[in-house]
Amino acid sequence: MNAPVRHDELLPTDLKPLRFEDVAHLPGPMPARLRTWRTVQFLRDPRGVIERLYETYGPVFRRQDHFGWGVTLLGPEANELVLFNRDRIFSSKLGWDPVLDQLFPNGLMLMDFEQHRMHRKTLSVAFKPAPMKAYLAGLNEGIARTVARWPAAGQMRFYPAIKELTLDLAAGSFLGEPWGPQARAINRAFMDMVLAAVAVVRRPLPFTRMRRGVQGRAFMSAYFAREIPRRRGRSGDDIFTQICNAEDEHGRLLTDQEIIDHMNFLMMAAHDTLTSSLTSLVYYLGRNPDWQERLRNEVDQVRARHGDPLPVEALGELELCEMAFKEALRLVPPVPMIPRRAIRDFEFMGYRIPRGAGVGVNPMMTHMMPEHWPEPERFDPLRFTTQMSAGRHKYAWVPFGGGAHMCLGLHFAYMQAKAFLYRLIGERRIVLPEGYEARFQMVPIPRPKDGLPIFLPHR
Ligand code: HEM
Repeated sequence: MNAPVRHDELLPTDLKPLRFEDVAHLPGPMPARLRTWRTVQFLRDPRGVIERLYETYGPVFRRQDHFGWGVTLLGPEANELVLFNRDRIFSSKLGWDPVLDQLFPNGLMLMDFEQHRMHRKTLSVAFKPAPMKAYLAGLNEGIARTVARWPAAGQMRFYPAIKELTLDLAAGSFLGEPWGPQARAINRAFMDMVLAAVAVVRRPLPFTRMRRGVQGRAFMSAYFAREIPRRRGRSGDDIFTQICNAEDEHGRLLTDQEIIDHMNFLMMAAHDTLTSSLTSLVYYLGRNPDWQERLRNEVDQVRARHGDPLPVEALGELELCEMAFKEALRLVPPVPMIPRRAIRDFEFMGYRIPRGAGVGVNPMMTHMMPEHWPEPERFDPLRFTTQMSAGRHKYAWVPFGGGAHMCLGLHFAYMQAKAFLYRLIGERRIVLPEGYEARFQMVPIPRPKDGLPIFLPHR
């Protein structure tokens, strides 16, 4: 039986964009003559802009961009208030809608409260230990095949290579598709959607990214619609088949359209975040050969105990690998800013913030606050030992968000990162060009501007 589509009655429909008068009592810049210019400045140097605003105005300030006026709240207390959302003040759907609604509607981040709770619970079957074990087998196989093809002599660009690998792995673990022309066509359509999600031109005019994104969505939706009847009532070791057969707490299956929307969204949520985080991890290991060596020793020891490929039982033993991944996520969080919209007035640090405000929290800034992270620019995975973590604010490290919308795929992300390190640093050395320093374009999802040139000689 199919579940009826439910829309959450709690979300107001009468929220208006803020005017300057609504936020005039807050610290922050005065209205710009050309507000688009503010967006351009921000896109050029998001971290610099937020740092300057923080230094000038403190942790609560109004900000203006081409969408209009909003409010930024910085620091762990702000993250806790907004992400934990105890008093149900903040809507995730209304925060993300302007970016995601056109191509990834009705994904988990575009739901709130009871509707979100029910759907999240239903989808979480795909992330239980048994299916995760099956995904690991696919990841190990795909990673081994691809890393073996990467050149051991000469330079390569890491970012496009890991992007392609992550896509190919998703075809297997998300869709259960064997490698081949079908998987390649899916990957192309999916990439068009992802690129369009952050396109400046938001209408699907001819020759625009948005047009290609809309066509990509039509292709993906048709693919899922064709496949759903074949996957219902079957068992399968991929996320798609799991979701086709997932029942909610009343024993109902998701509708075809709900499955299509969740699958499109899940693939988007996983893809660029994994690509970005594995890129910064490899970059920091390239810059810190001493750490690379420590991780290699750990991998060698685990391999001596468990052999190859990496079994699920050994994941917990890759402790240094996990800490290094966490540190890379701190330095370059794949989701640098998390948007919400206030559906009620609220107070924070003595400031009254009006209903309707777009409220942004900022992992990128929080992760660089020296009061929580001494010498914040330094790569130091030992920050994540139990001892060093004790006493740190729970919301000082938020690469996966927090509260009800905390990343559903975070264990999948750890697993892919470990499987990748097991193979890569088990077999190769990561060497950066002499004197190289990466420059990351931080928004919408961080990536090295030059694709990260790298050498991967055999060890
Ligand atoms: C290093 C990799 C990843 C990072 C840094 C990351 C980060 C995030 C963040 C910050 C959020 C919360 C956004 C918000 O509160 O508005 C989120 C949500 C989500 N992520 Fe991830 N993610 C990663 C990988 C993945 C993977 C691999 C998957 C799927 C396999 C995934 C699936 C999701 C889903 C479904 C949500 C929405 C959860 C909800 O709204 O209940 N993510 N992720």
